[in-house]
Amino acid sequence: MRTQVVIIGGGPSGLLLGQHLNKAGIENIILERKTKEYVLSRIRAGILEIGTVNQLRELGLAQRMDKEGFVHNGTVISYNDEQIRIDFAEHTNTTVMVYGQTEVTFDLYQGREADGASVIYEAEDIILQEVKSDATYVEFKKGGKTHKIDCDYIAGCDGFHGVSRQSIPITHRKEFEKIYPFGWLGILSETKPIHEELIYANSDAGFALCSMRNANLSRYYIQCDARDNPKEWSDQVFWEELRRRIPTEFADTIEMGPSIEKSVAPLRSFVCEPMQWGRLFLCGDAAHIVPPTGAKGLNTAASDVYYLADALKRHYLQGDPSGVKTYSQRALARVWKAERFSWWMTSLLHHFPEHSKFDQKMQMADVALLKSNPNAQAVLAQNYVGLPY
Ligand code: APR
Ligand code: PHB
Repeated sequence: MRTQVVIIGGGPSGLLLGQHLNKAGIENIILERKTKEYVLSRIRAGILEIGTVNQLRELGLAQRMDKEGFVHNGTVISYNDEQIRIDFAEHTNTTVMVYGQTEVTFDLYQGREADGASVIYEAEDIILQEVKSDATYVEFKKGGKTHKIDCDYIAGCDGFHGVSRQSIPITHRKEFEKIYPFGWLGILSETKPIHEELIYANSDAGFALCSMRNANLSRYYIQCDARDNPKEWSDQVFWEELRRRIPTEFADTIEMGPSIEKSVAPLRSFVCEPMQWGRLFLCGDAAHIVPPTGAKGLNTAASDVYYLADALKRHYLQGDPSGVKTYSQRALARVWKAERFSWWMTSLLHHFPEHSKFDQKMQMADVALLKSNPNAQAVLAQNYVGLPY
């Protein structure tokens, strides 16, 4: 087999890249380790930046998002009973879209199937070969046989635990990491969301987030110990803990119900530099991870894809190598800003067990600045809706 671009991983990064390439007439094959059903069973964040929304619209994949998604003009940040409303529309003239990542992934699969483009599922033991030469190929096993695909380029879209990043020799890659001393316990419940906008809450009892998927599906999170077993958190204890952490006005009126999903996620910041090596380019979680505060994971994956699609289109359609040469620099410049924002929002809103009284005062001063200073609110708003590509 031969193709122009082999895409490793059929998550949102790989699928979005595949759609850009299909539209430009650039041949590509996606190799995915799991089944489509497995990929679509993962529940992830649900906020799309304007840049992500625009990419889906340009690719003709936004019909369902524009019909079923919710446009949000702002968000609420709270500290115990104090509330700060951040008005995105006022500060940035733009908005975000509430639409689950699982739905985005579903729409991308529909688009790919409509194009008749191939995805090879249950591709195992992928090996990237000759990445630094002009004879690049990918080997994998499927159905007990070894297969080989010759290609010009490889896009490593295989998430944090994939093989692509590991294919860059350790001597040529630097990794930067911060592990946070807590996790998020999240539930989905078929209840009416507590408020029309998201509420990011800090409180004396720790962090909580009130989010949503639709008019009758709420998504809530509370800061917990990263080692907690979600099964040991009863729904009742979860709701009690959530209500302790959000302003009384919301705690008093929240609609509670049984959880239909409950899980614990660790919080980590991670960046791999560079994001390219020979003919391999990394996109999304394969190259970087953010803590979920601020919902930058999917959106930063989407900006990587934008730069890579642009680079490959320039190369194949105009014979211009500049984008391919500078991909890592362009992508990393934006990645680090998303890392900074996610780290800052996490620092602002969580309880850190190691914090001294001084550190706590600094956090409260940061909240006070945000409350009183429209410029601080504007900076939050600009980062939240997404910095320009
Ligand atoms: N071979 C083939 N496929 C692989 C391999 C491998 N060795 N390893 C992982 N994969 C597949 C996974 O099964 C998954 O479907 O790669 C895909 C990677 O998807 P994600 O982990 O969702 O990463 P990405 O597409 O970059 O999406 C980024 O998703 O993880 C969230 O917070 C993240 O929202 C962000 C977004
Ligand atoms: C979510 O709805 O799952 C969500 C929203 C905002 C975040 C993180 C997660 O910052």
